[in-house]
Amino acid sequence: MAIQKIYISTNLQADLESEIEGRNPGNIFILTDSTTKKLCLNQLGESILSKAKVIEIPAGDDHKNIESLASVWLYLTNNNATRKSLMINLGGGMVTDLGGFAASTFKRGMDYINIPTTLLGAVDAAVGGKTGINFNGLKNEIGVINSSKSVIIYAPFFKTLDHHNFLSGYAEMIKHGLISNQKIWDDILAFNLNNIDYDRLPYMIKESVEVKEEVVKIDPTEKGIRKALNFGHTIGHAFESYAMKQGNPALHGYAVAWGMIPELYLSFKKAGLSKDILREGVSLIKENYGSFFISCKDYDKLYELMTHDKKNEGDGRILFSLISGIGDVKININIEKQNIFESLDFYCDSVGI
Ligand code: GLY
Repeated sequence: MAIQKIYISTNLQADLESEIEGRNPGNIFILTDSTTKKLCLNQLGESILSKAKVIEIPAGDDHKNIESLASVWLYLTNNNATRKSLMINLGGGMVTDLGGFAASTFKRGMDYINIPTTLLGAVDAAVGGKTGINFNGLKNEIGVINSSKSVIIYAPFFKTLDHHNFLSGYAEMIKHGLISNQKIWDDILAFNLNNIDYDRLPYMIKESVEVKEEVVKIDPTEKGIRKALNFGHTIGHAFESYAMKQGNPALHGYAVAWGMIPELYLSFKKAGLSKDILREGVSLIKENYGSFFISCKDYDKLYELMTHDKKNEGDGRILFSLISGIGDVKININIEKQNIFESLDFYCDSVGI
């Protein structure tokens, strides 16, 4: 898979202009959602907006579906898009995932660029080439891995995020800290989430995105080490789906943060992670992310949800990515039901429910 060019941009319009000039596309389409259109679209600048056609889809993950995708394909067909066209995806993970898939499949593929407008999108969805839509009630069930040509990360967009959405993105940065090295983990621990230093943020984002890029470069199609990026996600996704089924959806990053607590415990129990790192990780999450309420009556349902995790191999085992230390990831670790339940007990005790 081609390497994406990543900009940590201080001048969005100039960087986008130079990307477009360098690619010389036939025609340009900007995909965005209704909310992002209001808040961010004009920041791309008149010169680009005058050359591009804007495609708008409804905001929200429930619209990351086949209907929205078909509406994008239809717009492209009706507006003479070709393989030489360029798609610019401006939005959070929902837009970059769906837009990446639309671009990758239209006439068997046109180039696309991602401009994430959420922190979560910047450090995760926009980077690494995973694209797709939800289908039949399952998240990201249909999609392809095909990288955008570039990702332009413009940190001033994240100043307007509410604190919950900021923390949702920061959860993936916590994960990147745990799977990378001591320096990045120390930076993560030292960053003050109660008084965000927006001057330092671009540096923190760069560091975090580089962790993901390094992993994706080695294993773009997730045959092996890319599964490291799923730390916290086996149980996190189960929390996320369970919250959704209860009609009380949680932000993705919050679910991952909560999921990291039992997975840190499993790392301690089964992979030799030290008690000190277990404590550091758990207190960082507990102090900032509160808790998702579960009781032991929910364990069987959560376990059932974990059996659908994409890392599993269809033989009934649940496979985790765990850490033995900072940056020391072990993948495909089968954990028995009894130990998973024990990790959920640990989660409940840790967050005090
Ligand atoms: N979100 C994890 C990955 O891109 O592999």
